[in-house]
Amino acid sequence: MSDGILDQTSLNPDEEQSDLNLRPNTLKQYIGQAELKERLQVYIQAAKQREEALDHTLLYGPPGLGKTTLALVIATELGVNIKTTTGPVIEKQGDLLAVLNELQPGDVLFIDEIHRLPKTVEEMLYSAMEDFYVDIIVGEGENSRPVHFPLPPFTLIGATTRGGMLSQPLRDRFGIVEHMNYYNQQELSEIILRSAGVFGIEIEKSGAAELARRSHGTPRIANRLLRRVRDFAMVKNYDSIDLSLVDFALGLLKIDRSGLDQVDLKILNTMIENYDGGPVGIKTLAANVGEEVDTIESMYEPYLLQIGYLKRTPRGRMVTMKAYDHLQIAYDKERR
Ligand SMILES: Nc1ncnc2c1ncn2[C@@H]1O[C@H](COP(=O)(O)OP(=O)(O)O)[C@@H](O)[C@H]1O
Ligand SMILES: [Mg+2]
Repeated sequence: MSDGILDQTSLNPDEEQSDLNLRPNTLKQYIGQAELKERLQVYIQAAKQREEALDHTLLYGPPGLGKTTLALVIATELGVNIKTTTGPVIEKQGDLLAVLNELQPGDVLFIDEIHRLPKTVEEMLYSAMEDFYVDIIVGEGENSRPVHFPLPPFTLIGATTRGGMLSQPLRDRFGIVEHMNYYNQQELSEIILRSAGVFGIEIEKSGAAELARRSHGTPRIANRLLRRVRDFAMVKNYDSIDLSLVDFALGLLKIDRSGLDQVDLKILNTMIENYDGGPVGIKTLAANVGEEVDTIESMYEPYLLQIGYLKRTPRGRMVTMKAYDHLQIAYDKERR
């Protein structure tokens, strides 16, 4: 994904700083994901009552939905320290050992992009997760010997955008596995209103609702669009962000009216142009769009299903009439 403002994966430096302020600190402040929060609340309370580390937790779902934020919130709610790192940074077993070595009992180790851990590191994680120890070989050649390294009980929180790319043995070692869903408009509106409060800017409900509608179900994009609209409000001397300003700004930014990004549009257009709107099998579709099956299933399809532009049938995926309307392409009923 590389289309500017809708790119959910990257942050620019100015965003990274203000992102810290936008992040909710507690489960109460964390908007949406209601069922997930309810379960977590119970697990966290139980772990605290037993004075044990929380079970290892895997969070998976599209970028920008609040996985990193939730990991920080969990540590805060547990009242423990959190160490954060990412899969690609831990290149060898020694790197992992250095991180594990710093943990205090009950602490959280957060590994982002956990599907990108090298195999040897992943294997070392198995015993660390299961029985809180690692065995490593120190020295070289004839002088090498195994060393048993006990660890304090800790909680590993792993995050990944690619649930399907995690190996089964690693996945099996997480006691809590949670999928993050796209946010609905109501929730995104709430997030936007809260962020506007943090920024100290006025926004009307109708403006927030329109931003929410065009944020691809994603809090990170909602906050990003709010920043851009804030710029327009300032330069154009608006006291309060209203619907007309949002519409004007997002129009200039070429943000689709349903919040679709380039890949979403490519999926829909491919299905319509090459397959009369479907049904199309996922493999065929992926090959035509030039994305991995896993990427389409985990990152794009859920949003298109949520907003009702795609439906699943036993024979494959189909584009809905609603999507034809949105794309302003004539829908031929006779074909179905
Ligand atoms: N549930 C939420 N409530 C409020 N803000 C959120 C929520 N989830 C995410 N955000 C905002 O969206 C931004 C992106 O979230 P992040 O945790 O970095 O997503 P991910 O790690 O899944 O890519 C955060 O900085 C935060 O401001
Ligand atoms: Mg993250």
